[in-house]
Amino acid sequence: TDLNAFVSGLPKAELHLHIEGSLEPEMMFALAERNKVEIPFKSVEEVRAAYEFSNLQDFLDIYYAGANVLRTEWDFCDLATAYFDRAAADNVRHAEIFFDPQTHTDRGIPIDVVIDGLLAGMASAQAKHGLTSKLILCFLRHLDEEAAFATLKAAEPWLDRIAGVGLDSSELGHPPSKFERVFARAGEMGLLRVAHAGEEGPADYVHEALDLLHIDRLDHGNRSLDDAALTAKLSRSGMTLTVCPLSNLKLCVVNDIDAHPIERMLRAGLRATINSDDPAYFGGYVNDNYRALIPAGRLDAKDFARLARNSFLGSFLSDAEVAAHL
Ligand code: HPA
Ligand code: ZN
Repeated sequence: TDLNAFVSGLPKAELHLHIEGSLEPEMMFALAERNKVEIPFKSVEEVRAAYEFSNLQDFLDIYYAGANVLRTEWDFCDLATAYFDRAAADNVRHAEIFFDPQTHTDRGIPIDVVIDGLLAGMASAQAKHGLTSKLILCFLRHLDEEAAFATLKAAEPWLDRIAGVGLDSSELGHPPSKFERVFARAGEMGLLRVAHAGEEGPADYVHEALDLLHIDRLDHGNRSLDDAALTAKLSRSGMTLTVCPLSNLKLCVVNDIDAHPIERMLRAGLRATINSDDPAYFGGYVNDNYRALIPAGRLDAKDFARLARNSFLGSFLSDAEVAAHL
């Protein structure tokens, strides 16, 4: 349809993308071979067939297993380059990408290998596509506060190239309050702060992310809609929500894509954005996520243009850089 082409052609920023979640099965096999790593799958088809999730934890188990093929700076550079090439084809002009250092350092991969590789991929995307990017270091919330502090310490030499910190992995049972002190420290170090909250966890976790972690942006945030006062507060404060429709569908956060709450979010005045989360696992890059919202028929071209505009407004680019994109 015309709306399809319109939406695909919109310039956009991607604000919620786990770089480890962009590892396509083909690359998983190639890296397994290159690094002589065993993987528990015989074919690309077998990997894809395993991507049937009933909740967040189901997905995370497979996602962490897949990351095991990533070993060298070259691997991280190739991973990032494949993502940026694909994002550029979707008219992504700027991307703020999450990485999970603990997934790698806990396997003996030095953080320098991870960051150097990602930075090389970022520099090449800027040269090749004019696509700019920033790095967001995520703490794994299923691990403890001490491990998060150690990760922040290990990242210290890289602070001038890291825009902010985030919080991801298993949400239920790991409330934002667990990381209040490490987020305070990150703030003192001049880092911006984001957190996954209200994906599977309750609206209370969103309150904690705001009040205890002092987040600059909210990742997912779906469950905020359960709390009218919270929704009003997020709307009033102009908080950006990084919403991920196909992820929500695959992880059973929503039962039906046509029932996705994106329209409610926009009508409530929330600064919602559309993102792909873990595109290799959830079956779509950013344009697939925008286009998945068309059939429900509840968003028009103006709404889609707003979502794309919100992605720049909610980015960590300077006001002048944002203005240059609008
Ligand atoms: N939620 C929590 N942790 C994650 C996700 C997610 O959607 N993707 C990668 N790590
Ligand atoms: Zn995520």
